[in-house]
Amino acid sequence: MTNKEQDVAAADQGLAGIVAAKTAISYIDGQHGRLFYQGIEINELVEHSSFEETVYLLWHGSFPTAAQLDELQRELKAQRRLPKGLITMLHELPKTAAPMEVLRTAVSALGTFEPDSSSTTHENLVKQAVRLTAAIATIVAVWERIRTDQAVIEPRDDLDHGANFLYMLTGKVPNEQAAKVLDIALILHADHGLNASTFAARVVASTLADMYSAITAALCALKGPRHGGANEQVMRMIDEVKTPDRARPYVQDALAHKHLVMGFGHRVYRADDPRALQLRRIAQEVGKANGNPQWYDVSEAIEAAMHEAKPELPINVDFFSASTYAALGIPTDQFTPIFALSRTAGWTAHVIESFTNNTRLIRPESVYIGPLDKHYVVTEQRS
Ligand code: COA
Repeated sequence: MTNKEQDVAAADQGLAGIVAAKTAISYIDGQHGRLFYQGIEINELVEHSSFEETVYLLWHGSFPTAAQLDELQRELKAQRRLPKGLITMLHELPKTAAPMEVLRTAVSALGTFEPDSSSTTHENLVKQAVRLTAAIATIVAVWERIRTDQAVIEPRDDLDHGANFLYMLTGKVPNEQAAKVLDIALILHADHGLNASTFAARVVASTLADMYSAITAALCALKGPRHGGANEQVMRMIDEVKTPDRARPYVQDALAHKHLVMGFGHRVYRADDPRALQLRRIAQEVGKANGNPQWYDVSEAIEAAMHEAKPELPINVDFFSASTYAALGIPTDQFTPIFALSRTAGWTAHVIESFTNNTRLIRPESVYIGPLDKHYVVTEQRS
């Protein structure tokens, strides 16, 4: 192969295997299906920790003392309310707008209301990380209320992050199990190496643009169905399959037509994604407890059919998050925004890390595959 052919082949790989950042935030052992945040295995965090504690861990590299956790919780609660102007702006958006489009727009707009949004000092980056983590949950909930013609609900300071989000979304304080399930889902989605949206955030941060710009870019990348948008597609597939007995023919037909079966496959994992295994357990539990196990049952049948047809394709995080969120009564097109409200913790941690390490401008090369030495042609002579 010539050098150019090698470059073209490499470009077709979507940067697979290319190291483009150094980080101490999370590590994926794809061969063995293990994920670590700051050195702590994800399963331990699910068993013992909370979303807020995990957020502190991601930002600061160690667990908070009781006083530090208390302070972070107070700060997050203090940052839950949105500027009036932003709520007015949300009221002006078409009610048909998809929640991810609204979230992307609102996060970009939120920066314009914040006095220090363009400052990139360490102190301000941490403040912005708190603000964004708190406010994104409110934006997602406020949009749900606005688009369904319901009154916007003020956040409650006596509820944790996940429970308060469900309260603002539905108007009901969630029961202990629902609050715990969402808390676990938030822990599981909080960070994941150099995934596409984190890479987007880090590219923006490497230009020395601000936190709000980096997080807006990350949201844009998360939206796609190959990335965070996959959980919504999984739910649409479950709705289409409807009953477990229809899973096998659905999968066979999809594969025969070379269609993707959403919620399967991963760039890094060669074993089951540990987040998916946790989510499988909680999807089953919450489905049973809430009297709506049908989404879990269909998911399980799709998983079995895929395992039979394509055993090399493991389930990923999006597969059982769909039936988990459905069992909690969350509308399908809010699944990806919920992914975002957790992943904001990781994105902001990466932006802080990027500025702390003074990361060099991320600027790869492309291989040119077009012609050279063409000439200008006057309009009349163009065919
Ligand atoms: N269903 C059916 N086939 C799949 C598949 C899926 N979900 N995921 C991958 N494949 C097949 C591809 O078609 C490809 O087949 P080929 O070699 O015959 O062309 C092969 O497996 C390799 O997949 P590829 O898309 O090159 O891997 P990737 O590393 O570029 O992509 C994903 C990884 C996640 C983007 C891809 O698996 C995917 O699109 N999955 C569905 C969307 C999803 O669940 N995304 C969430 C990720 S957390």
